[in-house]
Amino acid sequence: MPHFSLRQAVTFFVLFAAIFESSLASILAVDYGSDWIKASLMKPGVPFDVLLNKDSKRKIQSSVAWKKDERLFGSDAANIASRFPEDSFSSLKYLQGAPFNSDIVTYFTSISTAQIAETDRKTVALKQSDGTEWSTEELTAMQLSYIKKLAEELAGEPVNEVIVTVPPYFSQLERDSITDAIEIAGLRTLALVNDGTAVAVNYAMTRTFSSTPEYHVIYDAGASSTRATVVSFAAAEDPKTKASYTQINVLGVGHDRNTGGTELDLRLRDILIDSFMSKHRRDIRKDKRGMAKLWKEAGRVKAILSANSDATSTVESVAFDVDFKTKVTRSEFENACKDLHSRFAKPIYDALANAELSLPNISSVILTGGNSRTPMVQAAVKAAVGDDRIALNVNADESAVLGAALYGASLSRQFKTKDIRVTDVLIHDIQASYLASNPGTRTIHTAVLPAGSKHGARKTLTFKRKEDFSVVLNYPNEVMSGFPREILEAKIVGIPEAIDNLTERGAIDPVIKATVVLSESGFVSVGDAIAYGEIKDDSITGKLKGLFGGGGDQVPLETDVDEAAPKDEKMEKDKKDKAKKPLGKDQSTIPLEIEIVYNSQGPLSLVAKRAARERLRALDNMEMSKQLREEAHNTLEGYLYKLRDLLNDGPETPFTKCSQPSERQTLSNKLSETIEWLHDEGDTADTLQLWEKRSVLENLEKPIVHRYKEIESFPQALNNSQKWNWSTRLFLSQARENITADAIAGVPSKWTSQELDALEKALKEHESWLHDGVERQKKTKMNEDPAIDTQEMQQRAKTLEQHLQRLVRRKVPKFKKTPAKSGDASGSSSTEPTEAPGDRQPGHDEL
Ligand SMILES: *[C@@H]1O[C@H](CO)[C@@H](O)[C@H](O)[C@H]1NC(C)=O
Ligand SMILES: *[C@@H]1O[C@H](CO)[C@@H](O)[C@H](O)[C@H]1NC(C)=O
Ligand SMILES: *[C@@H]1O[C@H](CO)[C@@H](O)[C@H](O)[C@H]1NC(C)=O
Ligand SMILES: *[C@@H]1O[C@H](CO)[C@@H](O)[C@H](O)[C@H]1NC(C)=O
Ligand SMILES: *[C@@H]1O[C@H](CO)[C@@H](O)[C@H](O)[C@H]1NC(C)=O
Repeated sequence: MPHFSLRQAVTFFVLFAAIFESSLASILAVDYGSDWIKASLMKPGVPFDVLLNKDSKRKIQSSVAWKKDERLFGSDAANIASRFPEDSFSSLKYLQGAPFNSDIVTYFTSISTAQIAETDRKTVALKQSDGTEWSTEELTAMQLSYIKKLAEELAGEPVNEVIVTVPPYFSQLERDSITDAIEIAGLRTLALVNDGTAVAVNYAMTRTFSSTPEYHVIYDAGASSTRATVVSFAAAEDPKTKASYTQINVLGVGHDRNTGGTELDLRLRDILIDSFMSKHRRDIRKDKRGMAKLWKEAGRVKAILSANSDATSTVESVAFDVDFKTKVTRSEFENACKDLHSRFAKPIYDALANAELSLPNISSVILTGGNSRTPMVQAAVKAAVGDDRIALNVNADESAVLGAALYGASLSRQFKTKDIRVTDVLIHDIQASYLASNPGTRTIHTAVLPAGSKHGARKTLTFKRKEDFSVVLNYPNEVMSGFPREILEAKIVGIPEAIDNLTERGAIDPVIKATVVLSESGFVSVGDAIAYGEIKDDSITGKLKGLFGGGGDQVPLETDVDEAAPKDEKMEKDKKDKAKKPLGKDQSTIPLEIEIVYNSQGPLSLVAKRAARERLRALDNMEMSKQLREEAHNTLEGYLYKLRDLLNDGPETPFTKCSQPSERQTLSNKLSETIEWLHDEGDTADTLQLWEKRSVLENLEKPIVHRYKEIESFPQALNNSQKWNWSTRLFLSQARENITADAIAGVPSKWTSQELDALEKALKEHESWLHDGVERQKKTKMNEDPAIDTQEMQQRAKTLEQHLQRLVRRKVPKFKKTPAKSGDASGSSSTEPTEAPGDRQPGHDEL
């Protein structure tokens, strides 16, 4: 196929250009989990590691909450659920992209004490106790923005690019939801990466592989789901550069969206509920605080049961003023989860089946994800794959985020990392649907991107159409109960004009070609559409062109015209590379416009995203000004106490000694007035007023403070002045002796007598100023303003010092050697560079 080599050439060019593009920006990687968020920053010069939160924790609880009007994140937010059950929001990942009426939302309400509401897009918002509603995307954006700030503190610069992990099964709606949140947070999506794939990158980073592929299963047991990814690792060689790299191919994925750590928490919480109800005969499910406490307790008990055969659960005042205490055994817990046992291992089998491999082909099953530590889960996996295949050789919590960061780094090409290339796959079938041209009522469905299609794939569909029409991309199978099947409708417009144009120019049977693309981040869309027809050129030049192959054989996307079967195009890494340029020049190709329409739920509109961003920004600003106000309030309060103490500390303090009774009286009056004001109006006063009140008092205090500061620094300043006074005198007497001696010996001197006179004059002025000041200061009382300013003393001493140093540093002047003179010790200095002109009157001129 001729277009392959061209495309490769273009790809190569694009890659080449990217290598030299060096905008050394930081990249943030986020592993956004239902329970925990892990983040990592890639920045040249910053050690590559997991980002710490303000408590130096390596993982951050995936929660956002309000305590009255204070917004909290991380464990602060999660912990407050027992006090403010309707204002603490966790497990938001379940809600990403979820239609309000879907089963997953019902599930969410069974684990959360938060109130849900329906947005105008028919997705989910969460409702604070004061009625404020926040969409899932806005809350997620708040968390991402919080992470962004942590990263920026570490980076010391703005961080704008982010790569976020998603489960491989995330449908387009869910991927849209997270990218919308990223944008609302003021970040740019570098990529979304499937979490199993990120772990594979992390795994490959420190290992070497042979050219024979090695197969592993990444078994990721998370909070919200369990998934298995079959991956091959192999060494490969770049055909162009001959450099070796590691190729990672995702071959198959299996998943269970309802089997995860959260489900175990739920089962355990239900044990606690049953126990409470049988003991206390009250329905704790009606008490939100009680339910929030039990939810937290379930997590704690689960952790204890991971290492012990039983656990005692104690919750003080859980609900109805009851102190709850019960014992849970591991076997009781495991019994309640019996049905899950087989489900834990199933994703592995599914992944293998999708990869068309079997267990013996697998070198190891790499366990990762927080829930992989649960004995029940490990036992299920061991039973399924055998003890010897289990590998615990990646960090269960951090491998995904670190892998994502490395993957992001390789995409941005700013970092020298091991060359790892990844091919990921789509796991849901995607079909294209459109009305048949004739009779135009029958809908044709084409499996355009079946499950297993590679990320980056492009498929071209060819249509015989004369009128505008639409291609709808949709899931033939339900991806989640209650989720819409339709992804988007691509309206291809301008067809009649284009066909007319081609026909008029002699094209025979022109067709429409539409390209369906699967991006590296797993999004599908209709990338471009063209009208195409081969033109028979009857002119002489046309015939000649035809003869020499220069005519109508411009790179067609497809050679055969077949309405139903999509054709694979070569996988493309770069969006820019669409061979647009050669097509643009091609007279027989006319690009068509595509309008993307979302008939069911789509991504947030630009307007909605902007509005959400403004809302979050307003909240940030409000919090910021509140914080500043609080600071101003506290500073003023602290200052008032300090002043009060100063005024009350008795006659022996420097403050009293250096102030006059009238000054203290004024200050005291103003102080009482301000204390009263702070008491009455301090809570409503704004930041500026608070600063002003302090400033008034400070101005009254300032002269007093100045006095004792001056008294304190006076001896030192005087000593310093005297030191230079003394040094200058000493220098002058020596220097005068020396120039006299020089004159007698007939050798040049370093200084002229005028220079020494000038120095002496400066010294005398200094001395007389100092003397005068010191005398006046002696007569000044402590509570009067000082007669001489120590700062000026320092300044004048400095001036004198500089004058002196200039002369001291003077080198012996050049002495023009006359051949007759011998025994001239300084003769060798004749080659030394002279000083800058003007700095001295050279002595040798006098010779
Ligand atoms: C997988 O294992 C089977 C049986 O051991 C073998 O026939 C097959 O070639 C293996 N497949 C690969 C891709 O290694
Ligand atoms: C066809 O389109 C080209 C540009 O797209 C234009 O230059 C040309 O005039 C058109 N021809 C006809 C017959 O409309
Ligand atoms: C002045 O400085 C010298 C050394 O720089 C020190 O020995 C002397 O005690 C100082 N005198 C006063 C009054 O500070
Ligand atoms: C004066 O000359 C003597 C002897 O050469 C020397 O030690 C001294 O440093 C000179 N004094 C100055 C101020 O240069
Ligand atoms: C400056 O130093 C000289 C010599 O040590 C001394 O006589 C004079 O009193 C000093 N002047 C002052 C103002 O300290």
